[in-house]
Amino acid sequence: MSEAKRLAGEKAIDYVEDGMIVGVGTGSTVAYFIEALGRIKHRIQGAVSSSEQSSERLRALGIEVLDLNSTGTLSLYVDGADECDPHKRLIKGGGAALTREKIIAEASRRFVCIVDSAKRVDVLGRFPLPVEVIPMARSLVAREILGMTGGQPVWRQSEDGKGVVTDNGNAILDIHGLSIVDPVALESAINQIPGVVSVGLFARRAADVVIVGGEPPTVL
Ligand code: A5P
Repeated sequence: MSEAKRLAGEKAIDYVEDGMIVGVGTGSTVAYFIEALGRIKHRIQGAVSSSEQSSERLRALGIEVLDLNSTGTLSLYVDGADECDPHKRLIKGGGAALTREKIIAEASRRFVCIVDSAKRVDVLGRFPLPVEVIPMARSLVAREILGMTGGQPVWRQSEDGKGVVTDNGNAILDIHGLSIVDPVALESAINQIPGVVSVGLFARRAADVVIVGGEPPTVL
């Protein structure tokens, strides 16, 4: 799939215009976009990044990473996804960067999502839904989501067996076994639970354009 990810990442360069500050997401598909962005860095003003990982990649290529508080609305945000439905609604957060991704998506006029074909589904939910939570609310949020959806919340662990800590110092619950027939309603309901920082459903603010990597890439 990495060839498809590369093709999707490189195609997204078509949406970058001279002088732009580009919103940049997180993940292995975005890594190809960042690489391609490095080749045209003289044409852009800089980037706003959704994670420490992407910031490091951008800086290594000589692309300035700017603070969203000083840029105002962005023209373009490019990011990957874990699942994408036919209405361009997404599950994101497999890389634990969902909160900053949501902030930048909201702050951007156009959200271009880059995926490989394995990410396309009819109904969201086969990929466990990530929810970022304030650490002290982890069990409370897990119980509430279990009661509300019947899905099984699992506290995400890192390879060394400790709970994953996000760039914002929080925990991640992955909700297994969902079939999300109304993503907008579920996004709102989960957002209402005290202790939830954000949920990796991008339904209220879906992607505007989806690029599916292939030869040639498909633009939806
Ligand atoms: C990061 O938190 C995620 O939202 C990523 O966008 C998503 O996991 C896609 O990652 P890949 O491009 O590595 O498949």
